[in-house]
Amino acid sequence: MRVLFLGPTYPQEMLQFTRGLAEVGAKVYGVGDSPRRALPASVRPHLEDYLEVPRILDEDAVIERASAWLRGRQIDRVLTNWEPTVLLAARLRERWGVPGMSVDAVTGFRDKQLMKERVAAAGVRVPKSERVVRQSAADTDSVRAAASRIGLPLIIKPIAGAGSADTYSCRDQAQLDAAIEATRHVQDLSVEEYIEGEEFTYDTICVDGQPVYENVAQYLPKPLEARSHEWISPVIITVRDMHQAKIQNGVALGRQVLKALGMGDGFTHMEWFYTPKGEAVFGEIGCRPGGARLVDQMNYTGDVDLFREWARASCWKAFEAPTARKYNTGIVFKRAKGRGRITRIDGLETFKRQHRGFVIEDELLRPGTARRDWKATLVSDGYLMIRHPDWDECKRMCFAAATDITMYAE
Ligand SMILES: Nc1ncnc2c1ncn2[C@@H]1O[C@H](COP(=O)(O)OP(=O)(O)OP(=O)(O)O)[C@@H](O)[C@H]1O
Ligand SMILES: [Mg+2]
Repeated sequence: MRVLFLGPTYPQEMLQFTRGLAEVGAKVYGVGDSPRRALPASVRPHLEDYLEVPRILDEDAVIERASAWLRGRQIDRVLTNWEPTVLLAARLRERWGVPGMSVDAVTGFRDKQLMKERVAAAGVRVPKSERVVRQSAADTDSVRAAASRIGLPLIIKPIAGAGSADTYSCRDQAQLDAAIEATRHVQDLSVEEYIEGEEFTYDTICVDGQPVYENVAQYLPKPLEARSHEWISPVIITVRDMHQAKIQNGVALGRQVLKALGMGDGFTHMEWFYTPKGEAVFGEIGCRPGGARLVDQMNYTGDVDLFREWARASCWKAFEAPTARKYNTGIVFKRAKGRGRITRIDGLETFKRQHRGFVIEDELLRPGTARRDWKATLVSDGYLMIRHPDWDECKRMCFAAATDITMYAE
């Protein structure tokens, strides 16, 4: 089994996926723009070979270089777990005749408007939306026209967005005007009906489009709010009991979505809303895992290794881990007050003492380290991972970590 794996070292969790591939018996051919000489020692033993390219996002150039590099070597799978390279992987598969999801199928997971059209055509409830292609930065009329057809409250966001960047909720005319101004640089926009309610994930590993592993996690608060206010410590908790009726709504919706979009093998990460009326509404989906340590969270939820099981599903269409859920696993991201370098952390030791046995990772940045850009990475200035078999108890501990631990920088 020869696997070409795009981006084996970036983002950070890809090191673990590379390891997983090697552990299930794949020969891994890595392609990435990290310098060859800087490959971490932990990943080297798992790579059969590595092609360094100038820019992994320059798809045409990568296709040419990788084709020349492989000449004469047969490849059985082309895989990636990073959103910006999912289409490149599909193009490589088509170019070389390698099995796996087509460019058309992957485009349904990448283009938010096409995604919603395909999902809606299968009878799934999606937010009302319109794609707006701006003729120029001066073109505000086409956005206004779409907004008046959709009606307030609404959301304006890029068609190919990530990390809630350039995403605005508009409840009144003034907010709409401001959002239209603020998104002048984005050419391809989606104007959407605003869906009230709680926000969840639905994550899977699939084999031939059928989930062999499923997970739901709740965002507290919803990602757009978490990214709009620096003082918030965003919390995400995996839901141990997925049999609750409320959660089953989202799971049923998710399964319909996978079918509608023609999922193949590998990870999916979907977001959905649960409205005050008790309705599940589709948000968006990617054919790759969630970022910001969500795979680690899922692993802690069932004491499994999904880095390896994803590899097994992708290479051999098999899944061998138990699916019993033992814990609700929460992650609490912290953002320091002030700019520059972390100077101190208040409340951490007391918190850890009070919650001994439940805090499973402490990856908060320590004094002396430079702050991270909280808008660019949800991981912010680090995180605590906390787990407990009881939902309310897990949530209480996560919220206590959010309010009782304070990081400072200057
Ligand atoms: N129609 C909607 N109604 C309500 N909230 C929405 C809607 N669309 C987006 N949002 C909010 O904005 C956030 C970001 O939107 P979306 O998930 O579509 O974009 P993204 O930038 O790809 O997200 P990610 O942060 O997952 O990379 C959502 O998680 C949600 O909180
Ligand atoms: Mg999203």
